[in-house]
Amino acid sequence: MKRKLENILITGGAGFIGSNFIHYLFKDNSFKGKIINVDKLTYAGNLENLQDIEKIHGGKRYFFEKADIGDFDRIADLFQKYEIDTLINFAAESHVDRSILGPKDFIETNIIGTFNLLEVARKLWGEVGKEEALFHHVSTDEVYGSVKDGDCFYEYTAYQPNSPYSASKASSDHLVRAYNKTYGLPITISNCSNNYGPYQFPEKLIPLMILNILEEKPLPVYGDGKNVRDWLYVEDHCSAIWHILKYGKVGETYNIGGESELENIELVNILCELIAQIKGRDKDYYKKLICFVTDRPGHDRRYAINCDKLKKELGWQQSYKFENGLDETISWYSENKGWVDRVKSGEYKKWLVINYESR
Ligand code: NAD
Ligand code: DAU
Repeated sequence: MKRKLENILITGGAGFIGSNFIHYLFKDNSFKGKIINVDKLTYAGNLENLQDIEKIHGGKRYFFEKADIGDFDRIADLFQKYEIDTLINFAAESHVDRSILGPKDFIETNIIGTFNLLEVARKLWGEVGKEEALFHHVSTDEVYGSVKDGDCFYEYTAYQPNSPYSASKASSDHLVRAYNKTYGLPITISNCSNNYGPYQFPEKLIPLMILNILEEKPLPVYGDGKNVRDWLYVEDHCSAIWHILKYGKVGETYNIGGESELENIELVNILCELIAQIKGRDKDYYKKLICFVTDRPGHDRRYAINCDKLKKELGWQQSYKFENGLDETISWYSENKGWVDRVKSGEYKKWLVINYESR
């Protein structure tokens, strides 16, 4: 394979998974290239996540450019300036509850933004160099909708998105696939289950619950708490994407999952018990904080992913057991109070009020 993987444009690199991926790549000795992190710095983008990378590699192998993926001229300039041969599209509005309260940004970034990146790649990569280039699109298992007990999502499962977020991701996946079929653009797509780990914005279930337990605040569980999610430690998502970049077949979709399915209420109980153990409290001490609140509209009942294709064809494997990943995550949030306080100040406070008043 002639794939270059030298000048990699990462969109959304200041977010949760993007910043973990940049750390992951600089730790991997097989990566010798440069990373150009293109991020608009929305409420979810935080350059503090990459301070260490900036110090070591800034101006040499790491470059940050503040830009909107929807800005054609700016993205085209960056493609030329850095001679981009690989693009990984992490940039997105990523939170389902926000998409219910206001879908517009999701349409603009997730659909139109991705379309814009595809247009730049199609025009600038052209026919020459197509074998060396790759456009990898990071997507979600939510595009498949909800799955019955005993069944799971395969790469060929029909799309049935149920929230504005998942509909916008589904739409972007279709566009990416179509650019391969129609224009021959070298693309791969990955659809991954729920991630958790360091630097995740505390609006998402696991960091929200950890922080609320630590502060002894209410633990809001939506509906009856029996919705099922599959959990993957973020570093394993990063290794899966790197596998696809190195070995993935052009035009293909790969499912990524943790094979760790849990009902939300089971997960919240586990977090309560783990933190109680750390704090030397009675096993059930924090469970009194659990409160069942109004359900999320259109709440998907169950996600379950089959990732055999990635395992069998590309030789990927998760490295983290769920218990180990959770221990790492609890430690990280306990030890990084400064980071937590900074991301929770300002705009996030307003969002919390709006979100909970709407329930
Ligand atoms: P995140 O919300 O933490 O980060 C998103 C990043 O994108 C932020 O840094 C933000 O500033 C940036 N961004 C948003 N709009 C932009 C724009 N118009 N131009 C440039 N940058 C912009 O999200 P995340 O959880 O890290 O998710 C990353 C990707 O992975 C998303 O595409 C998401 O759909 C997908 N995904 C997430 C999960 C998960 O569990 N978090 C699971 C599967 C797939
Ligand atoms: O499946 C992959 C998706 O996982 C990603 O594509 C999304 O970007 C990511 O946000 C995540 O979506 P979810 O909606 O599954 O994640 P969230 O953390 O918001 O919620 C997880 C489950 O927990 C879901 O069933 C809703 C429930 N929940 C969530 C919150 C924030 C609660 O019960 N209480 C809460 O306070």
